[in-house]
Amino acid sequence: MAIKMILTAPDPRLKKKAQPVASVDADVRQLMDDMLETMYAAPGIGLAAPQVDVLKRVIVLDIDREDTKTGPLFMANPEIVEASDEDATYEEGCLSLPEHYSDVVRPAKVTVRYLDRDGVQKDLACEGLLATCVQHEIDHLDGILFVDHISSLKRNMILRKLLKVRKEAERDAAEGKASKPGAMGKESASAG
Ligand code: NI
Repeated sequence: MAIKMILTAPDPRLKKKAQPVASVDADVRQLMDDMLETMYAAPGIGLAAPQVDVLKRVIVLDIDREDTKTGPLFMANPEIVEASDEDATYEEGCLSLPEHYSDVVRPAKVTVRYLDRDGVQKDLACEGLLATCVQHEIDHLDGILFVDHISSLKRNMILRKLLKVRKEAERDAAEGKASKPGAMGKESASAG
């Protein structure tokens, strides 16, 4: 397994639509394993392939909370086949938007259909944090970030701040300065 670099917004590669996998072969399984390791190292509770610069419809999740313990979940070609009329609001974060969080409204319950790590088709009924996380990760496959669900005012503020942080890091690197301690600070609640 290998830890991959996670792209951060704003980055045009995060806005692209990912392609379905033809089957869950050895390459896709390798990608799933690398993504899980990358997600754990971040740490995060979900990760989508476009975040590691691979435009395939693959996501991984592992939610370990008091009320939701999923263990590792590997999903290829995931799609929402059922969604509740009832909505839920969660404060979301994302490994591609480090240190930024915002309330996002989504259907409270969804059923996701996907191919698992063995290529077997599954339907999984999700609610609570798992429902939010699955929808957040599938959004990534369509080039949608959680900030695309909030006001443009707040979205632009977050993206400007992220751009500023990146430019400062690039300038420091160019001047040969060591990166600031805490610049890679952990983000405990990030969905991915
Ligand atoms: Ni994310």
